Amino acid sequence: FRTLDDLDAQGKRVLLRADLNVPVRDGAITDRTRIERLSPTIKELADKGAKVIILSHFDRPKGMRVPEMSLRPLAEALSSVIGKPVGFADDCIGPVAEAAVSKMADGDVLLLENTRYHAGEEKNDPALSADLAKLGDAYVNDAFSAAHRAHSSTEGVAKLLPAYAGRLMQAELEALQAALGTPSRPVVAIVGGAKVSTKLDLLGNLSKKVDVLVIGGAMANTFLAAQGYDMGKSLQEAEMHATALQILNDAKSGNCEILLPRDLVVAAEFKAHPTTRTVSVDSVPADMMALDVGPETVDAIEDRLRKASTLVWNGPLGAFETPPFDAATVAVAQSVAGLTQSAGLKSIGGGGDTVSALRHAGVAERMTYVSTAGGAFLEWLEGKTLPGVAALQQG
Ligand code: 3PG
Repeated sequence: FRTLDDLDAQGKRVLLRADLNVPVRDGAITDRTRIERLSPTIKELADKGAKVIILSHFDRPKGMRVPEMSLRPLAEALSSVIGKPVGFADDCIGPVAEAAVSKMADGDVLLLENTRYHAGEEKNDPALSADLAKLGDAYVNDAFSAAHRAHSSTEGVAKLLPAYAGRLMQAELEALQAALGTPSRPVVAIVGGAKVSTKLDLLGNLSKKVDVLVIGGAMANTFLAAQGYDMGKSLQEAEMHATALQILNDAKSGNCEILLPRDLVVAAEFKAHPTTRTVSVDSVPADMMALDVGPETVDAIEDRLRKASTLVWNGPLGAFETPPFDAATVAVAQSVAGLTQSAGLKSIGGGGDTVSALRHAGVAERMTYVSTAGGAFLEWLEGKTLPGVAALQQG
């Protein structure tokens, strides 16, 4: 695909698809990472003399003008991050958007209202794509985190204008390529989270591509129970036992080592700071539940990491939001950061919870790459084609 290096931006109206779907609580943005990571692309385009017209969705208004889902507050936030005024237009197409664009000077930055205020966006409606395309001379997609959606602003419009990857899109794709495309081996993947059922495709694809697959979080309970261990009151999916055994078998024949927990931190109930015990996987008490992996498991993971060249991480090892069940995730995260800095481990993490967990452990800045994407990162790891990326490759 083409990048900003291939775009002669001077004087052009550049439609920039960003992902400004940032977390907001009580009207305040609680995490500016996506805005900060987007800022180099905006600045580069503005510095090169483009008229930068930013498109994004926000939340899921389902084709209605839900006032709480307006992008208007994001103009101010963008402006403070890029250090330049950012204009705002009340609609992303039609006379309002066209008038705002026609007033722009070279180097100006304009944010358009939520694309999902139009029902056509999620339907990838050609009429909406055409209305969007009218506003620009070129299209730049910097929204890797929305690239798993085949929508007008991520896919349709890319086919109507000369299309380019922005710097963030480029960085995300390069990191993923280094993680699973042509990685240096051995590759370790850590997959955690609650349910096997939501990560089936991920586990299937990773077990074909990596050398060691570490399974943690509540989904590990399902694997252990499938192997015949009594998991007490632990969260698990009884209906997934056969599938879990199949994954273990497939991995074995494909030479992928699956590392399951060897010991677990258990408690009688799920709350902060209860009385806990660390037990071996074969002695989970009937009235207790597993909420984190134990120190012996952490040692085994660290052993694999020391021998690894590449790590892909998706999903926490325990119920990290409720201490002390963050202990294993934090310990492994710190080892990963140490090995990244001192031993050249290439460490790539992503997916909603994973980023919060890495941040909670204080290591997000010391990993090789932390993705801004949730669902898109997962779909990529599942081996799926992302429509927003595919459209750039064709463009
Ligand atoms: C995200 O936050 O993962 C992206 O912005 C996609 O949002 P969506 O799941 O509402 O499409």
